Amino acid sequence: MRVGVFDSGVGGLSVLKSLYEANLFEEIIYYGDTARVPYGVKDKETIVKFCLEALEFFKQFNIDMLIIACNTASAYALEELRAKADFPIYGVIEAGVRATCKSLKDKDKEILVIATKATICSKQYQMGLEKEGFTRVKALATGLFVPMVEEGIFEGELLKSAFLHYFKDVKSPDALILACTHFPLLSKALGEFFGEKTKLIHSGEAIVEFLKQNSHFKSLDKKANLRFFASSDINALKNTAKLWLNLN
Ligand code: DGL
Repeated sequence: MRVGVFDSGVGGLSVLKSLYEANLFEEIIYYGDTARVPYGVKDKETIVKFCLEALEFFKQFNIDMLIIACNTASAYALEELRAKADFPIYGVIEAGVRATCKSLKDKDKEILVIATKATICSKQYQMGLEKEGFTRVKALATGLFVPMVEEGIFEGELLKSAFLHYFKDVKSPDALILACTHFPLLSKALGEFFGEKTKLIHSGEAIVEFLKQNSHFKSLDKKANLRFFASSDINALKNTAKLWLNLN
């Protein structure tokens, strides 16, 4: 099976990593719209337009399914994409909500969603979690984390200052949803900041679980062939992929 994985930039590589490690596909084609990242500060119309263009790009590869490895794109463009494709398209938000349900049984536990401004404004997570019965859902736009991850800043004083800027009035939640595919790169630092009480929900792990449950995927016994494409600076994207996925 050949799957397409789309993100606004390099963040979706955190989802690709989970898919690659789970051995669910023969071939994974990754496309990052690096020329136009970030999507998280743009309006719906623009995000939908960019996503439809990405869909056109994927059509040349005869893919069996497409995964939108970007929460911002999943929040705004899923319906429009599905209407124009003849293969299944999965976003990461439904999977993230399901993963949260699985890891928090008590619906009164406190959940904090962190994401781009656009994802938070879409209220897709908040509505999805409230529909599942969760009563204490907070959401916070933490857009500065996106350029920090793009810059390879995963620890240190600058990141600590950003944490204090965003989280100065925030108590450690029971679950922290990393509702931006860049944020898993900050898992270690976020885990240390919030402490052991806080479970981190990761879009990549969530989508793997979701696919296994919904499409009855079985793990294959060999690694997927990986192909990378970007709308700008493919070498930079490939280098980041090598680093994040520990490829040779
Ligand atoms: N990877 C995107 C997401 O998951 C965030 C980066 C952007 O703003 O484009 O929302």
